[in-house]
Amino acid sequence: MEGRLSHYIALLEDGQPVAFGGFWLVAGEAQVMRLAVDPRRRGEKLGLSLLEAMLAEAVRLEAVEMTLEVREGNLPARRTYDHVGFQECGRREGYYGDNGEAAILMRRDL
Ligand SMILES: CC(C)(COP(=O)(O)OP(=O)(O)OC[C@H]1O[C@@H](n2cnc3c(N)ncnc32)[C@H](O)[C@@H]1OP(=O)(O)O)[C@@H](O)C(=O)NCCC(=O)NCCS
Repeated sequence: MEGRLSHYIALLEDGQPVAFGGFWLVAGEAQVMRLAVDPRRRGEKLGLSLLEAMLAEAVRLEAVEMTLEVREGNLPARRTYDHVGFQECGRREGYYGDNGEAAILMRRDL
């Protein structure tokens, strides 16, 4: 699904979505806005497959970098991002209002 700025991808099994994610593409920067796997299907690395598809799509769209923010304590997400070469490039203390958790900023070249 493509809008002027937003690009979303779903992984389908038997026509049903099991994971979806998306990014905004602004001035060559693909900013990850969502990455989610059906809770019943977590632990199968579907997030990694989805993220690889998002990276390929961002390259196709001629983005030059991908960026994101992730909760410090979100270890499954951070492991997934590590696996495809994202690197920590900053930190925002107390970013998430619900529990005051820090946001870790990550990026990778495309
Ligand atoms: C983040 C998310 C997409 C990853 O989905 P997934 O493909 O099911 O990920 P997996 O459970 O296969 O795990 C990925 C890695 O995290 C590790 N992991 C899983 N649970 C963990 C935990 N509680 N503590 C530490 N590591 C954990 C796995 O061992 C795996 O590591 P490995 O690849 O080195 O073996 C999924 O957890 C999700 O939808 N979360 C809710 C939405 C969200 O937080 N999105 C990210 C927003 S930035």
